[in-house]
Amino acid sequence: MDAWKLGDAASAWISENFAENDTWILELGCGEGTIERSRRYQLLTVEHDEAYLTDQVQFIFAPIVENSISSQYNEQGWYDVTSLKSLRGQQFDLLIIDGPPGGIGRSGILSVPWLLKQSRCVLVDDTHREPESNLATKIEEMLINVERKEIFEESQWGLRKSTVLQWSEINEAT
Ligand SMILES: C[S@@+](CC[C@H](N)C(=O)[O-])C[C@H]1O[C@@H](n2cnc3c(N)ncnc32)[C@H](O)[C@@H]1O
Repeated sequence: MDAWKLGDAASAWISENFAENDTWILELGCGEGTIERSRRYQLLTVEHDEAYLTDQVQFIFAPIVENSISSQYNEQGWYDVTSLKSLRGQQFDLLIIDGPPGGIGRSGILSVPWLLKQSRCVLVDDTHREPESNLATKIEEMLINVERKEIFEESQWGLRKSTVLQWSEINEAT
């Protein structure tokens, strides 16, 4: 199994909670798992590295650039927000935050609260790591009436965790 893919337990949770074909997923970070999911769901992925892009999946190529929020968290940058303009106004049932890689950092998503507002549920992968765990908490603080679920599983890199946040309202003050 490709250890970079979303884990089996997280993938199973998606299968149990979202109907195939009718569900729109936005997935940050493309890989083998993304390609597999795109065969079952309406899926759009954002990827910074052309090596992981393929015509088998609908994608937005967004290079990593400096991002002021990423800098606050001592991260390397985030997807170029100008590349994401076409996403404005699109509604998603599920937003998967599984990119950019941890070595670059994922906190830049906080610089585009409008993108979070366009989803009804977010899955932050790799929350066994401190930066991703802090990110899930920051996103949770932006939400009202939020349900939080932790998905644990063993992987070849040890115990891993994904955090799911589902909400009914966004805190407009954030
Ligand atoms: C955790 S991976 C994303 C995996 C994807 N969500 C999936 O389920 O297949 C995060 C980033 O690592 C890179 N990546 C994807 N597959 C990889 C692999 N097999 N080896 C190394 N890097 C990979 C891509 O740039 C991707 O955006």
